[in-house]
Amino acid sequence: MMMMEDKLLNWLKLVFISLMVLLFVSKIAVLLWWRPRKIEDHFSKQGIRGPPYHFFIGNVKEIVSLMLKASSQPMPFSHNILPRVLAFYHHWRKIYGATFLIWFGPTVRLAVSDPDLIREVFTSKFEFYEKNEAHPLIRQLEGDGLLSLKGEKWAHHRKILTPTFHMENLKLLVPVVAKSVTDMLDKWVTMSESGNVEIEVSEWFQILSEDVITRTAFGSSYEDGKAIFRLQARQMDLAAQAFQTVQIPGYRFIPTKRNIKSWKLDKDIKKSLMKLIGKRKENIGNVLPEKGPKDLLGLMIQASDSSPNITDYDIVEECKSFFFAGKQTTSNLLTWTTVLLAMHPQWQVLARDEVLRVCGARDNIPTKDDVVKLKTLNMIVNESLRLYPPIIATIRRAKTDAELGGYKIPSGTEILIPILAVHHDQAIWGSDANEFNPARFSEDQEFKPYDDDDDKLLSDDEEENVTQDVYEERRPNHEMDKERDSIATHLMLR
Ligand code: HEM
Repeated sequence: MMMMEDKLLNWLKLVFISLMVLLFVSKIAVLLWWRPRKIEDHFSKQGIRGPPYHFFIGNVKEIVSLMLKASSQPMPFSHNILPRVLAFYHHWRKIYGATFLIWFGPTVRLAVSDPDLIREVFTSKFEFYEKNEAHPLIRQLEGDGLLSLKGEKWAHHRKILTPTFHMENLKLLVPVVAKSVTDMLDKWVTMSESGNVEIEVSEWFQILSEDVITRTAFGSSYEDGKAIFRLQARQMDLAAQAFQTVQIPGYRFIPTKRNIKSWKLDKDIKKSLMKLIGKRKENIGNVLPEKGPKDLLGLMIQASDSSPNITDYDIVEECKSFFFAGKQTTSNLLTWTTVLLAMHPQWQVLARDEVLRVCGARDNIPTKDDVVKLKTLNMIVNESLRLYPPIIATIRRAKTDAELGGYKIPSGTEILIPILAVHHDQAIWGSDANEFNPARFSEDQEFKPYDDDDDKLLSDDEEENVTQDVYEERRPNHEMDKERDSIATHLMLR
């Protein structure tokens, strides 16, 4: 009798385990085989195709091979950088057209470069899309700040931090920026006294951007902030090294030499920031000096005073986010603008003449009023951002089933927006799309957010009112509308 019972029990165990294995295998099969096929079919019926999906790896192998091939070729002396920088996109766009599917492993991405569709994603139908999850290494660097936050929390933080970017506040920062720039130029002059010197401008501009962002983020706590951002810069170097190696899932949890260094840095950054926040809180009366620029740290600490939702953790993460978002972007822009001016000296002459005309004698530091008069320089910066955008692509994820330009987009589809490709598209910019021609922005002058008489579209008071009204008016009663509405509000404020 006992033997029979044991046998039955063993048999039941076997059936149970087999069922579990079957369930697991079918889940994997659905996720890695059936679902991708279904999605391919869904899009193909709407006339959208792309390179075929391969089990588990999607198109990653082809992407890596196209990118490696492109970067192994000698670089021609040309601004036509799309075939090199986004080689896979360039290659498949020629075959499948402007809107096509790519598989990053089993994750589907719909490449969209039509400005009308992009407008839908970011404006008219923004409520259907959200930011996608960043790679864990990036997430660690960018922190849980504006860059990665979603929904209510993002809206709340965005409302608190928007004043740092108000024109009035930016104007107060002009002397701060000017001081950092003149310090750098003085060093260059000293270096050149011993004869011709060659300098790596990208390194200098990284130091410069770091310096200015430190002042924006930390204000009066500049020295402490600088030490913290130094740690974060080291953290970025480690992440860059990690990206150059093959990514094995979970590898970042293994105590390798680099990971241990990175964990320690992370701990040190958090500890130093907490200490700094503590210091500023003790000195709360001086957090926002009456006449000085508003700094990110001061604004967050002030907000945490009245809102229990803003914790020290949130403040730490926003500081990390600012640094991550601002440093490389700004230094890349400065570097490419310098390179472009060197390549196109006629524009360098025009820019220099304008600066001397507007700012007067060479030693005069530009004032906030001068800055808006530098029209040619503004055109040059726009053209530089167009040809060499510091962010070459971005992604949004469909939160629910959505419609995009008439196409039916299933929930979970990621929309890949190749900013660089849009900026180099001849259909948008004309046959000279790959040429440096700042004059293309001269007609836009009337549409710029400022002109000589009125240097911005909205005054800060007006902007503040819009912020407040839109935020309050749109605060939804219905729970389900909450997230959608807060995103709506704050996208309008961007
Ligand atoms: C040339 C310089 C810059 C460029 C081209 C640039 C570009 C961008 C772009 C394209 C985004 C949107 C990313 C997305 O949602 O997919 C973004 C977001 C952001 N940037 Fe910048 N950025 C620059 C400088 C800065 C600086 C100097 C700071 C701060 C000191 C900064 C802080 C941020 C923040 C906080 C966000 C997130 C905004 C939000 O989601 O509410 N950026 N930037």
